[in-house]
Amino acid sequence: MDLGVNIDHIAVLREARRVNDPDIIDALSIVKLAGANQITIHLREDRRHIQDQDLKRIMDLSSLPINLECAKYEEMIDIAISSNPHRVTLVPEKREEVTTEGGLIVDESDKVLVKAIEKLQFKGIEVSLFIDPCVESINSSLALGVEWIELHTGEYSNVFAMLYGNLASSHHSIKRLELPRKDLEIKLRYELEKLKEISKYATELGLKVAAGHGLNYQNITDIASIDNIIELNIGQSIIARSIFTGLHQAILDMKTNLS
Ligand code: PXP
Repeated sequence: MDLGVNIDHIAVLREARRVNDPDIIDALSIVKLAGANQITIHLREDRRHIQDQDLKRIMDLSSLPINLECAKYEEMIDIAISSNPHRVTLVPEKREEVTTEGGLIVDESDKVLVKAIEKLQFKGIEVSLFIDPCVESINSSLALGVEWIELHTGEYSNVFAMLYGNLASSHHSIKRLELPRKDLEIKLRYELEKLKEISKYATELGLKVAAGHGLNYQNITDIASIDNIIELNIGQSIIARSIFTGLHQAILDMKTNLS
């Protein structure tokens, strides 16, 4: 299973002081040497972390393939095309959100989405859609002709956090499901089964399947054992651990969980 390391949070730290420290470019060789397979970055419309200049420098200097996440709108697609990453993952974006909160609504009659996919593919850029794990989104993704889908693992991660009290669950802003422990366990199994079934279904239809969001050193094991998921994109947990262990070790630690 391949690992894409999302390095946005290095830019989050830098933007806190608006100086070039840490320099995101320093991450490129470390991620590569630690054996990750791709760099993932999200150029948000509000530019809260990754900046246009980062994208340019990363494209110039990375020897790993770049998976650029962005919204479907024309301004972003034009930037993506002129940067020429190997893949663009289209994600939904709301300005007020803390992070990408759900999958894209995949509607075959969405002209903006259709145009974005056509323009990117015309330039030879692979397109992935970040979607919730459901049959309808897979069918629509197939109809839209994309090569990849990335399954949103946020729901699985949230339930896992509520059950096993990892770091995320103790944050004051996490909305807890008011469910007894037994029901949370059932829900966790249900979310895992859903990811298994949907990734199998998508693979059988010829889509390549990635997954990500909220994955960490505690909740990764069962997700990493799903055969039809061939790539995980992980950011927050790796960058958080890197503060204490260094980025190289944090990536090695994550890789030991992947088959
Ligand atoms: N994949 C996609 C499409 C994302 O938007 C994000 C978050 O930016 C990630 C993966 C990584 O999520 P996390 O930072 O929670 O590991």
